[in-house]
This record gives sequence, structure tokens and C-alpha cells, in this order.
Amino acid sequence: MKIGIIGAGNMGGAIARGLAKTDYFQAKDIIVSDLSEACLSALQDSVPDICVCKDNLQAAQADIVLLAVKPWLVDIVLTEIASALNEKKILIVVAAGVAFEQIYKHLPEALSEMPCYRLIPNTAISEMTSMNLFAAANTKPEQNEFIFKIFSDLGTCMLLDEDKMAAATSLTSCGIAYALRYVRASVQAAVEMGFRPADAQAMVAQTMKGAAELLLNNDTSAENEIDKVTTPGGITIKGLNELEANGFSNAVIKALKASR
Ligand SMILES: NC(=O)c1ccc[n+]([C@@H]2O[C@H](COP(=O)([O-])OP(=O)(O)OC[C@H]3O[C@@H](n4cnc5c(N)ncnc54)[C@H](OP(=O)(O)O)[C@@H]3O)[C@@H](O)[C@H]2O)c1
Repeated sequence: MKIGIIGAGNMGGAIARGLAKTDYFQAKDIIVSDLSEACLSALQDSVPDICVCKDNLQAAQADIVLLAVKPWLVDIVLTEIASALNEKKILIVVAAGVAFEQIYKHLPEALSEMPCYRLIPNTAISEMTSMNLFAAANTKPEQNEFIFKIFSDLGTCMLLDEDKMAAATSLTSCGIAYALRYVRASVQAAVEMGFRPADAQAMVAQTMKGAAELLLNNDTSAENEIDKVTTPGGITIKGLNELEANGFSNAVIKALKASR
């Protein structure tokens, strides 16, 4: 089984590096194409046996073809590689906001039922802890199972109806930036309270990781875990009330709705 990845930038490069660490692909079975020599040689420096090339058609010869180019380049690349695709292959398109309707419009009529996934990972894919959002078209349950197995090694997978992809992208892709704004604000506060930025960042990042692990590893909720650290009359409730008085929850809700 070979996978061709077209676009070796942030996402394509991280996916290629991640897949090379899984049991599903050996580096030599991953073919990555990009116009940028710099991206390709950086990738080959970190995964020496990976196949790199500047020819998208060569990458599209693989059994699974994954596009990771900017959304406005998807149409051009699909037209370019269409002759190498067939209904036995699986197409995966990693491009925010590019709908199945648009993807199939740029494939020949004969490929109108080709199995296709839209995939939105987040930048934590480089740490193998991505939230991988999938929508599927013309795929069989066994293909879903196979693809999710592969991408589960790079994080957590969730299959969504296509009309939920934009809102979920706001939570998970943009969500990384929102979570890190909380970290940045915490570091600003910590410096005022006398800590070095690096120490503050380490403390806050570990606290964020701990909060996430509490939710991911237990049958609990954010509200429940907040209650555990909020003693009546204690210091946490003072801080929580300050957050709300300054519009914290409202700002988060508005931000997520704005970026869907
Ligand atoms: N970054 C994220 O957090 C994130 C999250 C979810 C989804 N996505 C999606 O992932 C996709 C890729 O984003 P990215 O951040 O990885 O972009 P990126 O870093 O710009 O990578 C895209 C790569 O594709 C190359 N390229 C341009 N035209 C090409 C062509 N015709 N054939 C082959 N390669 C070509 C680019 O080369 P040049 O630089 O030389 O143009 C670049 O190396 C986007 O559609 C985005 O919506 C990104």
C-alpha cells in the first residue's frame, strides 16, 4: 500500500512525517510531491527513505492520494492528477472549506463515485496528537475503519456530516490558537507576578495538558472538574467570577462562532 501526498508544507509535511512513524507505511511507500525544493529537502532530511518529487502525477500513482495544498489550489491540482485516479483508489483532501461538490466538479464524470474524504487535522499532528475531523463521500464502512486506524496513530479521529465540518474546524484548528491565547495571557500575568516567561509557559502548558487529560481519560465534564477546584469562599471562585465579569465565556463563544 502506497500513499501519495501532494503538498509538503505545514500539513502535508507533518502528515508525511507522522505516517512514516506508523506501522501502516514504510517511508519508501510514502511519495510526496511539492513545487518547493526547500520543503522536499527538509522532509527528506528528517525521513531519509521517503520518496520526494516535483511531479504531482507521480505522487498520484499511489493507492491513497492525499492533497494538502492551499484551498485555492485544489481545483488546479485535481485537474492535473485526474488521469492517475480511479475508483479503486482513495482520495483525501486536506483543505479548509473545500466541499465535496467542488472536489467532484473537478474530477471526470467516471470518478463521480470515487471514495473521497475531507480531512481537517490540526497543527498538533506534528506531536501525533491531532484532532482529525473527517467527512466521507462514497466510502465503504471498511474503508472508513482502515483510514481511521491509520490516522488514529496521528491523533483522534471523528467522522462528521459534511455540514458540521466548518464549525468543528473552528473548535479544533482555530481552537489551537484560542487555547494558546489563554496560555499567552497567563504568561503575561505570571511575568507581572514575578516569574520568568519560560517558567510561566512551562507551568501553564503542563496545567493545560493536565486539564485536557482529566477530560480525555475520565467520564467527566469541564463543569465537574471546575467544581472540584472551586471551594466555596476560596480563591478559584474569585478568579472565575473575574473572568466572567470580563466576558470570558461570551468572548470564547463569539470567537468560535465567528470563525466557523
Ligand atoms: N495549517 C493548519 O493549521 C491547517 C489545519 C487544517 C487544514 N489545513 C489545510 O491544509 C492545507 C495545506 O495547508 P498548509 O498550512 O500545509 O499550507 P502550506 O504550508 O502552504 O503547504 C502547501 C504546500 O503546497 C505547495 N504547493 C503549492 N502549489 C502546489 C502545486 N501545484 N503542487 C504541489 N504542491 C504545491 C506549497 O509550495 P509553495 O510554498 O512553494 O507554494 C507548499 O509547500 C490547506 O488547504 C489548509 O486549509 C491547514
